[in-house]
Amino acid sequence: MRCEIVDVLADGRIVSPSAERNKGPITEILMHVLPTQGNVLEVSSGTGQHVLHFAQAMPHIRWQPTERDADCLKSIASWLAQAAPPNVHWPIHLDVHDEIWPVADVAAVVCINMIHIAAVSATEALLRGAGHVIAPGGILFLYGPYRRQGRHISPGNETFDERLKAENPEWGVRNLEDVGLLAACEGFELQETHDMPANNLSVIFRKR
Ligand SMILES: C[S@@+](CC[C@H](N)C(=O)[O-])C[C@H]1O[C@@H](n2cnc3c(N)ncnc32)[C@H](O)[C@@H]1O
Repeated sequence: MRCEIVDVLADGRIVSPSAERNKGPITEILMHVLPTQGNVLEVSSGTGQHVLHFAQAMPHIRWQPTERDADCLKSIASWLAQAAPPNVHWPIHLDVHDEIWPVADVAAVVCINMIHIAAVSATEALLRGAGHVIAPGGILFLYGPYRRQGRHISPGNETFDERLKAENPEWGVRNLEDVGLLAACEGFELQETHDMPANNLSVIFRKR
């Protein structure tokens, strides 16, 4: 986890205040756009707070959390061990750059707050991988800050972008239209966007 102060509990659970704040609003959108059942892959699950909340709110979906970071994988497992939701698979390692993703034919891929805290190659790899594993008609859900038509949508996002780039020049708030073009190359069409708290967007693509 980067760019945020988090608590780490003795059992390995990481507590992210921002995940705690945004899990409710994100759930509302997911309940509106995801199918009522099927397998959903979460990419860059982070602490595990999100997937636990989503699984409890959407019990007929089977969730597969993934991460590339070992501490996050431990945290996800610890959150799941606490609550034991029956509809969440054990977390597995996935770096979006991996050539083969360990799932297939999923109804949806959910990726929250990853593409601005990674190189552009991670956005490309995410869209390519999601294009391979999502079944026709399935959903790709992205959440985070975006520029629109090349412009920041708030002064706060601009400052955040500067902080990201100071930490790593390859990071940065992505332009929604650029992500849309890359997604189109992988067989997705933009279905809808939703304004979210703290100047974030929920972006929903559908696989043709
Ligand atoms: C800001 S955190 C967001 C975590 C969680 N989704 C949330 O919103 O709380 C960014 C996450 O992206 C993950 N990440 C970064 N690069 C990645 C990559 N190449 N493949 C998969 N995950 C990656 C990091 O390990 C980290 O957990």
